[in-house]
Amino acid sequence: MHKPIPNIAIFASGSGSNFQAIADAIQNKKLDATIALLVCDNPQAFVIERAKNLQIETLVLNPKNFSSKAEYEMFIGGKLRDLNVQLVVLAGYMRIIGPTLLAQFPNKIINIHPALLPSFPGAHGIKDAFEYGVKVFGVTVHFVDSGVDTGMIIDQESFKMETPMTIEEVEEQIHKIEHQIYPKVLQNLLHL
Ligand code: GRF
Repeated sequence: MHKPIPNIAIFASGSGSNFQAIADAIQNKKLDATIALLVCDNPQAFVIERAKNLQIETLVLNPKNFSSKAEYEMFIGGKLRDLNVQLVVLAGYMRIIGPTLLAQFPNKIINIHPALLPSFPGAHGIKDAFEYGVKVFGVTVHFVDSGVDTGMIIDQESFKMETPMTIEEVEEQIHKIEHQIYPKVLQNLLHL
């Protein structure tokens, strides 16, 4: 008997290169999952275009149209349950997940962060690490809890800056690592 293919939802606010990498991994049979939904809080985000090309259902929401964060998250949570989503995958979603969604999906929300946590949490991980002058950079995938980038670490990958690099080169290398590690972690989480 075939195991059912798990449904995931991806939350993103920007370019969506991680969204694309996950979709590509599914297409290339490296990841057994279905992206049942994209949740996006920014109507200008390029990730919406990517989802359209892949015919992936998309929820574009303006949190300001809801009376509270709890109501915003209740709405999203209802949609996730309707679609039988088993794992919520944050990929450049520039918003803190509140108690409403956390309670509905305990240990079922993960995030990717472009630095080696617990160093350099927050919205500018790459810039902060670069400006600090670290020589080892990396990527962290972690469970989401109520803090900012504080949840339990699932996996990390690093690289060493052997010769001087610009911040753009560091960024490129970090994204390359992200696009490999995130589908791999998802496959392990969903199927091991
Ligand atoms: C990534 O660097 C991720 O680590 C961070 O936000 C960025 C999103 O990039 N959380 P993209 O939208 O997936 O291209």
